[in-house]
Amino acid sequence: MKTMILDGSITENIKLCAGMLNAGGLVAFPTETVYGLGANGLDECAVAGIFTAKGRESDNPLIVHVASPKDVERLVSEIPEAFWILSRTFWPGPLTLIMKKSSAIPMNVTSGLETVAIRMPGHPAALELIRVSGSPVAAPSANPSGRPSPTKAEHVLKDLDGKIPYILDGGDCSVGLESTVLDISGDIPRILRPGGVTLEELREVLPNVELEGSSVGGTPRSPGMRYRHYAPKAPLTAILGPPDKTAEYIKSRLSQDTAALMFDDYSVDHPNVVTFGLSGDLVTQAARLFDALRQFDSMDVEAIYAQSPNEEGLGQAIANRIKKAAGTRIVDII
Ligand code: TXA
Ligand code: MG
Repeated sequence: MKTMILDGSITENIKLCAGMLNAGGLVAFPTETVYGLGANGLDECAVAGIFTAKGRESDNPLIVHVASPKDVERLVSEIPEAFWILSRTFWPGPLTLIMKKSSAIPMNVTSGLETVAIRMPGHPAALELIRVSGSPVAAPSANPSGRPSPTKAEHVLKDLDGKIPYILDGGDCSVGLESTVLDISGDIPRILRPGGVTLEELREVLPNVELEGSSVGGTPRSPGMRYRHYAPKAPLTAILGPPDKTAEYIKSRLSQDTAALMFDDYSVDHPNVVTFGLSGDLVTQAARLFDALRQFDSMDVEAIYAQSPNEEGLGQAIANRIKKAAGTRIVDII
């Protein structure tokens, strides 16, 4: 199959992609968080194609994307009280809400769970695609499982060339990290995955929001959080602590066989150093992180060391992704 990149600002291209979704095919499309790999969310066969193209474990459920909060009504069996204030405040935007599913949602979308994850994305091309197709769009991030999520159309092409017909190009993703996944199906709203909307922002409208400990009872309730993720090819070690100390640690280990992800204001001039923003600029770090991780794949190195921000505000999601990329290789400098 030949994969074509189409300009997402052209209406004809949106129509072409919507037609592909309606015919049961797959389309990669831009959102403000990361690129998604979409299929008609009401078509079980089409959804099965997503799992094949990504090599995704069948026990890891997908997010269903809608073009308006009203579209949620037929997809859930019950609208929780918190839904309205959350959707009014954060949609369109990087917040995914978990609610009890209705029978309209095929079982493979939710991997057999009785709940469904729903998000209204903010990118105009995504909203237009969903509207024109007339159906909710099920989509995970458009990367093969385990790889950093794509934040540019060219990342998707590199990963899925020949596996999907169209990539709708909407430019670089402005947020650059995936949505926050918030479970509102029970009594207490719980963040299952930190993301573009912060805990602090959520608590302003819902003071009782809790952050699910990543290892409560062993198994995270968001199935996707179980897997090592976002990983460049060479093993990455996350170096946690004050930036002057972590920079010192990393500099003493830099060689032609090692590489580093560093803050602009603590970096050194070295061919294997990739920077991702000033230490105090979390918005830039989020936007550049996945592209930075991908840059290591063109270097012939045996180890990568990464600085990581404090876990406050957006720093929580950034540190979460860096730690996921590291797996168990974490060094904490006090
Ligand atoms: O920003 C995003 O969320 C992007 C864009 C494309 O919208 N999508 C994305 O999808 O990151 P994905 O599939 O890579 O991650 C979805 C996460 C996974 O961790 C999955 O386990 C969790 O959401 N999830 C989906 N449905 C769930 C459910 N019913 N209960 C708990 N977790 C769920
Ligand atoms: Mg993903």
